[in-house]
Amino acid sequence: MLNNESPENTRDDIKIAAEVINKGGLVAFPTETVYGLGADALNAEAVKKIYKAKGRPSDNPMIVHIARASDIGQLTPMISADVVKIADSFWPGPLTVVLPKKKTVPVETTGGLDTVAIRIPDDPVALELIRLSDTPIAAPSANLSGKPSPTKAEHVIEDLNGVVDVILSGDDCRVGIESTVLNLTCLDTTCGKPVILRPGIITAGQIEAAIDREVILPDSLNTSEGGVNEPEKPKAPGMKYKHYSPKADMLIVEGQRDKVKSEIERLKGLNEKMGLKVGVILFEEQAFIEAAHNFFSELREMDRQGMDMILAGALSDRDGVGFAVMNRMMKSAGYNIVKV
Ligand code: TXA
Ligand code: MG
Repeated sequence: MLNNESPENTRDDIKIAAEVINKGGLVAFPTETVYGLGADALNAEAVKKIYKAKGRPSDNPMIVHIARASDIGQLTPMISADVVKIADSFWPGPLTVVLPKKKTVPVETTGGLDTVAIRIPDDPVALELIRLSDTPIAAPSANLSGKPSPTKAEHVIEDLNGVVDVILSGDDCRVGIESTVLNLTCLDTTCGKPVILRPGIITAGQIEAAIDREVILPDSLNTSEGGVNEPEKPKAPGMKYKHYSPKADMLIVEGQRDKVKSEIERLKGLNEKMGLKVGVILFEEQAFIEAAHNFFSELREMDRQGMDMILAGALSDRDGVGFAVMNRMMKSAGYNIVKV
């Protein structure tokens, strides 16, 4: 275990962590989105350890992290003009692309799929770790499966201390929600058009501007059907699992702002009278970036305070960063929502 007390990693720490990766071990590391739990993406045995440490179902594929766009050729045989434009516009950064995989990528890394999800993270520690390991690093979020994603080193320690070989600490994650996942493989009913499988802070509109063609953002991503039922089958297979759940029961209140506030107050009072501890998550209107930054850590804070119930105000945004936060909020609440 390295530096789990101090936010600074020396280059030597990262070097030791890279050796752990090369020996098939597990390293948790910061990225700009959430902390990742990494292993050598090309080593099937190492990747299996990630599933075990997280308690993650083995058909849920991982994101493979590289340090240079020129390393993408190790993972996929198909590099289209779209991929080049995306790499130029958004990497390093919180956008993941799904492409056909090369045979060298083990199916353990891709959850049995013949496609692979790839991104370059925008974090100096992550980039140095990948460079020094000199191999692509598969990394899901560094939380126990089902729990809120970790945006602070302390969250990783909470979930994985003693279970992984090294935890590299860093600053709190700047973005706070996971990367946008964009399918460029044309496997679905909207064939021919890139489809967002998981919304993030890079929006469909920004991607459209970069590649100069339409990008599909299915409305169903934020409904209980999204990612589970036909025709929007689980193209991001992770979508079908229980996700981001706080210990408390959670209810989202949606509607006009004033009504949402008074309904939350009403429900809070009512439940507190019955002896329950009630927490409230209500972000400033339109402050979507801030909501993304804080959402997961607020969920963990609610658990820490032993809340029985969480009341959250819905964000109204149909296609931007607020939509991406709502995607996580809906899952956390098990799609438990009331309209006022
Ligand atoms: O920001 C992030 O993306 C973070 C950091 C660590 O990079 N990683 C992350 O990984 O969120 P994870 O494993 O928690 O989420 C990966 C998502 C899942 O929804 C998974 O189903 C989807 O990406 N995914 C991965 N490979 C895929 C593939 N080949 N086809 C479709 N979806 C894929
Ligand atoms: Mg995750």
